[in-house]
Formats: sequence, structure tokens, C-alpha cells
Amino acid sequence: MRTHYCGEVNESHCGASIAVAGWVHRRRDHGGVIFIDLRDRAGLLQVVVDPDTPAAFRQAERLGREFCIRVQGLVRPRPAGTINPHLASGQVELLAQELEVLNPSATPPFTLDEEASEELRLRYRYVDLRREVMQQRLRQRHALTRAMRGYLDERGFVDIETPMLTRATPEGARDYLVPSRTHPGKFFALPQSPQIFKQLLMMSGFDRYYQIVRCFRDEDLRADRQPEFTQLDIETSFLDQQELMALMEGLVRHVFRTVLGAELPDPFPRLSYAEAMRRYGSDKPDLRVPLELADVADLVRDCEFKVFAAPAADPRGRVAALVVPGGATLTRRQIDEYTAFVGRHGARGLAYVKVTSVAAGRAGLQSPILKFLSDAAVAGILERSRAADGDLIFFGADQAGIVNDALGALRLQLGRDLGLVAAGWRPLWVVDFPMFEWDATERRWVAMHHPFTSPAEPDPAALVADPGAALARAYDLVLNGSEIGGGSIRIHREELQSTVFGLLGIEAEEARAKFGFLLEALRYGAPPHGGIAFGLDRLAMLMSGADSIRDVIAFPKTQSAWCPLTDAPAPAGDAQLRELHIRVKPPAPPEG
Ligand code: AMO
Ligand code: AMP
Repeated sequence: MRTHYCGEVNESHCGASIAVAGWVHRRRDHGGVIFIDLRDRAGLLQVVVDPDTPAAFRQAERLGREFCIRVQGLVRPRPAGTINPHLASGQVELLAQELEVLNPSATPPFTLDEEASEELRLRYRYVDLRREVMQQRLRQRHALTRAMRGYLDERGFVDIETPMLTRATPEGARDYLVPSRTHPGKFFALPQSPQIFKQLLMMSGFDRYYQIVRCFRDEDLRADRQPEFTQLDIETSFLDQQELMALMEGLVRHVFRTVLGAELPDPFPRLSYAEAMRRYGSDKPDLRVPLELADVADLVRDCEFKVFAAPAADPRGRVAALVVPGGATLTRRQIDEYTAFVGRHGARGLAYVKVTSVAAGRAGLQSPILKFLSDAAVAGILERSRAADGDLIFFGADQAGIVNDALGALRLQLGRDLGLVAAGWRPLWVVDFPMFEWDATERRWVAMHHPFTSPAEPDPAALVADPGAALARAYDLVLNGSEIGGGSIRIHREELQSTVFGLLGIEAEEARAKFGFLLEALRYGAPPHGGIAFGLDRLAMLMSGADSIRDVIAFPKTQSAWCPLTDAPAPAGDAQLRELHIRVKPPAPPEG
């Protein structure tokens, strides 16, 4: 049907008779001559239709946007002055000899060059995906998975599929359930990750497994979260944590080099979880922003300002300072806006000190809270925060979690507002995570990574003695402030696994019911093993410069986990529900 892609026609084809096929991007009538920008996956080609070819001309007259057509004609150089340097085919045009409408198009809901609401874009996703930028993103994603497979294949990894219809997998989100017709009242769960299966594959002796796999999590959605998303999932045997991390950062360096031609540092820097929280208020710090938090609790513990003194004396509290370079010029109103901003992250206020002159000590500062601070505290704060003349110091004082959330987010916002976000790629391993987090509402320990993660301390008795102090052999890979991967060395002994289940409040009975098959498998010579999963959508998003993972997924869901294209989820018919042994309660009438 065709001989060339539109976007690939160039001067070397001049004089040739070619056939192209694609969509009408634009049509312009120029007094007797019709110009068509014809588009296919490779780009645009200008087609000229002359009244001298009356049959083709008649067809061209009725073309509208997005008509699907085929054109056969002669390639010729464009006349001087009409060359388009922005187009790969901009030196040439195709003089049509035959023009065939393969299929007309209804008026598209939006033109490809204009902005449209996301709902409309997703409703007509097949039109939206015709945009050049969307084509590029999905093709880059393909280049990414190809590069991943190449790296893993060369190193002996085997791609193995794991079940989609399975039991609940504990990654901390809600499950998507699938009712069973053949087992009344029972449900499959879609996997939140292949975690248990990949561990079983290590116990099966596969040694190096990978899979590019869909995972399902019913959780609150954001720009970087979808209810179904893709992981590059990996598990290995007989590698220690250092070997595994080296192999995995090699993978990331390889894909950035292959897909983007970008060189990432070798090795990647590492930070402990504790240090990441202390310096950045986040376990996924964006190292492109040069600002850091400084602890000042010891300096204000005895001051008269209760807002500072109370959390400074509380072992779970934190008082930290964040310097805004040049921030002394911030207006009252801007400070109020930042106060409202940290308020959305739970902070109850945002005390500040403006620094006019460091040398002048107290007299060189302006702040409503200055009167509460001793000379020693003032001197200590200036020194520790390394504030300079013309800066402003913000303070967070509260439970450590709140201060970290608030100042961690403020740090990023200030980085953006002040244009301090450096260009380039800043990967980072975060290591030495705590094994457990205390869930204050449920009053129990929860696994910070997942229940199969090995503690650094291999002695079950020592672990039970002080769970709060235990560190995990877990690691997260962070890139430019995004968590792009996470994994751990796993527990490979039944006793330790049972101990961890016990600490997590999973009773022996429940553990047997839910994970009995895993505990049993651990008894048959399970090898030491560990792995990682990368968020493929997130990586593709970062690499393509998109703002949301929805822009690198062909058919994503909206923020409310709905698909405007297919209108899923949808009600099921009575017959189908009956077969599944399910009765749906009528929805509660709207309130009010
Ligand atoms: P984890 O839960 O950290 O680990 O997930 C691994 C990576 O998957 C990405 N990710 C998501 N991406 C888009 N939408 C979501 N809802 C979503 N949730 C997670 C993140 C994250 O770093 N089984 C373990 C891995 C292991 O231990 O080997 C796991 O799933 O980029
Ligand atoms: P107040 O005593 O409430 O008027 O607060 C005095 C200053 O302290 C104001 O600038 C508040 O924004 C700030 N502030 C109040 N609570 C906190 C807090 N928890 N952390 C940091 N600053 C606070």
C-alpha cells in the first residue's frame, strides 16, 4: 500500500515516485492548489495537490482533519523560501498523482496541536495517542524495556511469568478481588506484586529471575500512582546486598546510557534512612535541590518559646531550621503563603528569622520570636544553619514526622520557587531502613518494606528484644526525588520468618493460613536470596520529562481509578452476578 513513511522522505528521494499513507494533520487551500500535511508514525510530509490532477484534486477538496488517506506521487524539492527547517521532510514535498480516501474521520474532539482536558484526552485516547509527543513517549518506553531486557539477558536472568489470579500479597495496599464462580464465596486477589512467587522461584533454583509485570493496588492515586502499574521485578540467589545493589545500579546506568545517552555516576551515592530524614526530611530526597535541614532542638530546649521548647524536649519531637538563600526579601504575604503550604503537610506554623547581618548578631536579625531566644541559641542557630546576610531561616517544631513532612516538602517548593533545581540526573540509594514502623492507630508494628525483608540482626531473640531499633536489609533507589525502585535481602530461614510474622501481629494460625506455603517452602533448603522491583512507569515518566505516569501509559485510569474510554468499572448483569454467587446491595441514597 505504501513505499515510505512520511517523516522519512527527504532530498535523497527527489524525482522518485512513492506512495505514503497516514492521517490529514492539516489542509490548506492556496488559491487553486491544496496543501496537505500528511502524518504517520514517522512525522509529517507536505503533499501538494494540483487541479491538473482533477481526480486527486476532487478528493483533496473534501478532506478534513484526521481523514485516513493514501497518496501516490512524485517527490520534488520545495520552492526556495518555502523550506521548513523544523521538519525532517521540510526540504521536499510530494506532488500527488493519486489520492485515495481510506476512511473519512468524524470531526476530532480536539486537534492534535491543542490542549485538551485530561478526561477528554482519555475518552478519545486513540486520537490523543496520535500526538507526536505521545508516540515518542511510548516508543521511548519500549526502548527502555528493551534495554532492560538486554542487560538482564546478558547476565543470565530468566523471564518467568507469575499468576495474576492469586492470594493477597502483602505490599500494604488494598487488594483488587476477583470472585470465583467455581468456589462460591471465595475470591482471588490480583497481585500487588509477584513478591512471594519470585521468592519461590529462588527456592526452585532459578537463581536469577526477572519479569516486566503488572501489579494491582487499590490505593489513593496521585501523579505517580496508578491502580495497575508495571514493575521490572527482579530476584536473585547467593548475592549479598552489596553485589546485588552493584548489579542493579549497573542496570540503571545501562538503560540511561542506551536510551538517553546519559552517563550516571558510578557508583551511585548512598545515604542511610536516618541521614536522609535528618538532612532532607524525606526518604526520597531530591538531591538536585541544594537546601538542607539543620537540627536545633538542643539550642532551644530551655527557651521560653513553648512551640520550640516542648518538641525539643520530646524524644519523638524535632526542631529544625531551613535556610532560604536571599530570603530576607520575602514579603509578609509570601511568608504567609509558605505557612499555609506547610499547614497542608500538618505543620501548625512556620516561625522565621530574617538575617540582615550575621556579624551584627541579634541586632542584625528580625523575627517575632527573637525575643524568646537566648544569645547562645541565636549564635548556635546562625552557625549551624550556615545562614548568610540576606537569608531567611524557617523553623519547624513538632513531632518529628510532621516536621520532616512539612520542611521536606517546603525544601522542594523553595527549590522550585527560587530556581535552585539543578539540571541532570541525581540517583541515590537509601539504605538502612528501620525494620518496623509503629502504627499508633492500630497499636502494632508494621513492616516498613514488607514482611519478608531480612533484618540486619539475624538473631530472632535480639530482634524481639527491641523491634523499634532493628534495621532492615532494605534499599530504595531514588532518582531526582522519585522512588523508582525498592527491594531487600529476604529472610530465608523459617524461624526468623515466623518471628517477624509474630512481631507484626500475624498470629501463628493466620500466618499458616495466609503464608503457610511460603513457611513450608523455607524448610526445603531455601537459598539466601534478595531482589528489587523498579517502577517502570515512574522511570519512563522521568526519562521522558512527563509530569504524570498517565502520560507514559497507553490506557491509564483517571485519578479516581476510572477509565473514560471504556467507562470501566461498570455494573455486572444479574445473570453474571448470580453465577458468581454475589448480590449487590443497592447504593445508599445520596445524603441530604
Ligand atoms: P514496592 O512496593 O516498593 O516494592 O514497589 C516497587 C516500585 O514500584 C513502584 N510503585 C508504583 N508505581 C506506580 N503506581 C503505584 N501504585 C506504585 N506502587 C509502587 C515504585 C516502587 O519503588 N515486592 C516489592 C519489591 C521487592 O521487595 O523486591 C515491591 O513491590 O517505583
Ligand atoms: P504563635 O505563638 O502561635 O503566634 O507563633 C509564633 C510564630 O511561631 C509564628 O511565626 C508561627 O508561624 C510559628 N509557629 C507556631 N507553631 C509552630 C510550629 N509548630 N513550628 C514552627 N513554627 C511555629
